Amino acid sequence: MDLKKLLEWRRTYRKFNESKKIDKNDIEEILDSIKFASCANNRQFLRFISIESEEKVLEVFKNSLWAASLPRDVATPKEGERPVYFVAILTDEKRKLRFNGIDEGLVISNLTLAAAEKGIGSCIIGSVKDAKIREILGYDENYSCEVVVAFGYPIVESSIKEIEIDEDQSYYLDDKGNYVVPKYKKEDIVKRI
Ligand SMILES: Cc1cc2nc3c(=O)[nH]c(=O)nc-3n(C[C@H](O)[C@H](O)[C@H](O)COP(=O)(O)O)c2cc1C
Repeated sequence: MDLKKLLEWRRTYRKFNESKKIDKNDIEEILDSIKFASCANNRQFLRFISIESEEKVLEVFKNSLWAASLPRDVATPKEGERPVYFVAILTDEKRKLRFNGIDEGLVISNLTLAAAEKGIGSCIIGSVKDAKIREILGYDENYSCEVVVAFGYPIVESSIKEIEIDEDQSYYLDDKGNYVVPKYKKEDIVKRI
């Protein structure tokens, strides 16, 4: 996929083919993308947990909140549609930099693009409770988890739709159950000088 197509396709997906697992080599390549991410002062304070066991994937899934903008019955993936793999991103609370969120964002961008290039969809989940995720994954007390990324082969499509600056930006499902993600036009959000 060329970069434009990749960026277009790398949307948020929330329904997957749960019976299609991600190949081990593909997991390695997704994880390899971490080291190519820029980070503040190249300190590399973030840590990661690759959640591959079916049991842990299910537990993390059960403690994540999906599509806050949509009614609960369509927002959350149902059995058979759930993600098959997660990466949890851990922050070292003792060495947390002011740029931690930027570092997280850049890594997430790499992870999700590396996956997208293989036709693997993803959903970034900020609505996870650190205490619960800590219980499930058992990481060191110096670390906290404020975001996980879910992965799987999507069974729905997602596309962006340009909107005017005064229109509602909430994403929605079309009549086929595909995601439509409204995005503002470049002309309305970029000032040229
Ligand atoms: C920091 C961050 C946190 C997010 N948290 C959640 C979440 O908890 N649950 C969820 O379903 N989607 C979550 N999303 C996905 C956003 O809803 C999604 O990126 C947005 O609707 C735009 O869609 P797009 O990614 O296809 O452009 C999160 C995205 C980001 C960047």
